[in-house]
Amino acid sequence: MLTGDIPLSVPELGGNEWKYVKEGLDSGWVSSAGPFVTRFEVEVAQYVGSRHAVAMVNGTAALHIALQVIGVEPNDEILVSDLTFISPVNAIRYCQAHPVLMDVHPETWQMDSRKVAQFLDENCEIRGTQCFNQSTGRRVRAILPVHILGLACEIDRIVEIARRYHLYVVEDAAEGMGVRYRQQHVGTFGDVGVFSFNGNKIMTAGGGGMLVTDDVEKAERARYLSTQAKDDPIESVHNCIGYNYRLSSVQACIGVAQLEQLDTFIAKKRFIAKTYEEAFRNLPQVHVMPCSPETEPTWWLYTILLDEKMRLAERKTVIQKLHRRGVGVRPLWHTIHNLRPYLDCYAYRIECSVMLYERAISLPSSVALNQNDLGVCIEAIHDVVRSF
Ligand SMILES: Cc1ncc(COP(=O)(O)O)c(C=O)c1O
Repeated sequence: MLTGDIPLSVPELGGNEWKYVKEGLDSGWVSSAGPFVTRFEVEVAQYVGSRHAVAMVNGTAALHIALQVIGVEPNDEILVSDLTFISPVNAIRYCQAHPVLMDVHPETWQMDSRKVAQFLDENCEIRGTQCFNQSTGRRVRAILPVHILGLACEIDRIVEIARRYHLYVVEDAAEGMGVRYRQQHVGTFGDVGVFSFNGNKIMTAGGGGMLVTDDVEKAERARYLSTQAKDDPIESVHNCIGYNYRLSSVQACIGVAQLEQLDTFIAKKRFIAKTYEEAFRNLPQVHVMPCSPETEPTWWLYTILLDEKMRLAERKTVIQKLHRRGVGVRPLWHTIHNLRPYLDCYAYRIECSVMLYERAISLPSSVALNQNDLGVCIEAIHDVVRSF
């Protein structure tokens, strides 16, 4: 069982979604053009503070395009978090490039910037304006930090390290809509940022993604590649391989309506996080979710850490018992370095991501979670972990 009676994270669709979808359909626009697609792009760009935004069919497609617009080529290496939903790592492989897996930090649960710097210092050299991994001989092209769970990486440090080594930064902010780091929205620190509007995210477009960048050339390239790389307005001339990756107008209608409610959703998530934090602060079997002082989190998916005497077996038992009580909890993602497609990837000093995979549990965090549901979840967690 993966979900219980109280789901992990479901959307709240109580705003102008129906109204805008009707308006969109009445205007005759259904596919990847039309006023709602443009409006969604403009409004997301304004909200996050980037110059350009290009709407895509989902976050994974946006990551694939992001890697192409920074010029990733087959055999390049990309430094990416080991503890993430698999999508950014797959996107690296779509480009026939090689993920180099980086650990996360125990105090932030995000990509460990110190280890990134250590890896580069120990293994890489700059030749001209490019960075090479001395042991593989491959070019290192970019760092792909993933802002997970509605928190933020130390993204300013990561960008600073990347600049030192002539690397691009593609930020996976799929889970980061609404998150700010040192007052700046995540996804806007690097060269390109990506958001997801999958149904489980803080706001949805019924699926969907957005690529953001301040660089007009990268934005134009992203638009071109995601619209089948069409080179002539009349003839079917394509000078490179493109993709059918644009967001549909129907989805954009939903996205625009959701964005109007985003600040309310964030406030609700903060209330849920505060309630969980207060309920578990004095429970010895559980550690609450950490957040750095520089981060203004959305707490997209509130996640607790079981005490260190509890490892994988106990975490599995806790999840099973909570599912039986109708509480839709979920473990964090499996670490990438020991997933079958990525067993051949270099993984640098991985420690913390394994610990989090073994001990962390994400709790029901839907915006619509009411006081009663929260009470049920909290009581069930207290009862289940007390027996350990
Ligand atoms: C960290 C992360 N990256 C990328 C994605 C991919 O987004 P999508 O599902 O829209 O393709 C997701 C979630 O779905 C995610 O959580």
